[in-house]
Amino acid sequence: MRFNTICSHVALATFAAALLAVAPAAALDSSNSSNAAPADSAAAKLPNVVILCTGGTIAGTGASSTTTVGYTAAKITCDNLVDGVPELKKAGNVRGEQVYQIASESVLNEHLLKLSKRINELLKQDDVDGIVVTHGTDTIEETSYFLDLTVKSKKPVVIVGSMRPSTAISADGPINLYNAVLIAGSKEAIGKGVLVCLNDEINAGREVTKTNTSTTDTFRTPDLGMLGYMQDNKPHFYRTSTRLNTADTEFDVTGLDSLPQVDIVYAYDNENSIALDAFVKAGAKGIVHAGPGDGSVAKQMVDPLNAEACLRRAEQLGWRIRQVLNTHEHGDHTGGNGAVVAATGASVLASEALSELPIASPLVCRSS
Ligand code: SIN
Repeated sequence: MRFNTICSHVALATFAAALLAVAPAAALDSSNSSNAAPADSAAAKLPNVVILCTGGTIAGTGASSTTTVGYTAAKITCDNLVDGVPELKKAGNVRGEQVYQIASESVLNEHLLKLSKRINELLKQDDVDGIVVTHGTDTIEETSYFLDLTVKSKKPVVIVGSMRPSTAISADGPINLYNAVLIAGSKEAIGKGVLVCLNDEINAGREVTKTNTSTTDTFRTPDLGMLGYMQDNKPHFYRTSTRLNTADTEFDVTGLDSLPQVDIVYAYDNENSIALDAFVKAGAKGIVHAGPGDGSVAKQMVDPLNAEACLRRAEQLGWRIRQVLNTHEHGDHTGGNGAVVAATGASVLASEALSELPIASPLVCRSS
């Protein structure tokens, strides 16, 4: 999800604790079961790939073949989606499973948890070599990042969507899905973290962003670049992310039934703390402040150098400050640490301690 704002970095902040679809219409006959077990030795040599369907434009339908905007997302069932691309059977032993069926702007924590847990269950099975998730493109990057942190397996997980609905002329869903299955069944993708593949390009789930509302080449990794691309039925990788992914991260959702409510406050000129206060009042367990530059927070929100104001605010809210988070060591972020520590005994988590956190972020006073 990309917002056109002046904010260039997402930042943890403000008294906060926070981590904390294709089927061409012509091919919608589901009699061609996608759930068939490998029948011969050729099939037995193909990788076993489970396609988890969640909705999005890739499962969307429009009124006509030229409807590329005013369509409805999340209409085609998983079986029809999979059966709509017969070429998949050459890429792997595929079966589809409908995990949920929504447009991705409506993803909730419950959906993320359910998806991550299902992927983990499946990847524990010896007869599953890789996973493909079909997903709406609007929040592919959020879901892929979440999965990159919480899937506990090195087997390939590939998230795929499409920019044109299944009924559109030149729908991009079928080729995207085909490529995704090839990647998910490939040895080359093992250990590379959760991957996103559209438009023949393979990007890291933790890095990719949707850069354009409607074009098919929208998924990009600014500055770092894509990991590789698909050509002639094969993934070609050029680089890999050096950041911890999947089984190597400290995040594990196995025992969780829910995730805490974490809200986002966006910075803007003339920012005030109305949204922040409202989120706090509504019981947010953490707030992410998306600030300008290197994640700065306006003085009128919280001034990290003004320990007194910081302490006063915590007192007003009934918070005990136990940790101070600084994610880089500029004086305008760390200058208030000493006084806050002296007054509260809080521990300081310095930037080095946070180098493996997903986002570079500044600071702040953490309450629990
Ligand atoms: C969605 O994100 O579910 C709708 C838009 C899309 O998939 O491109």
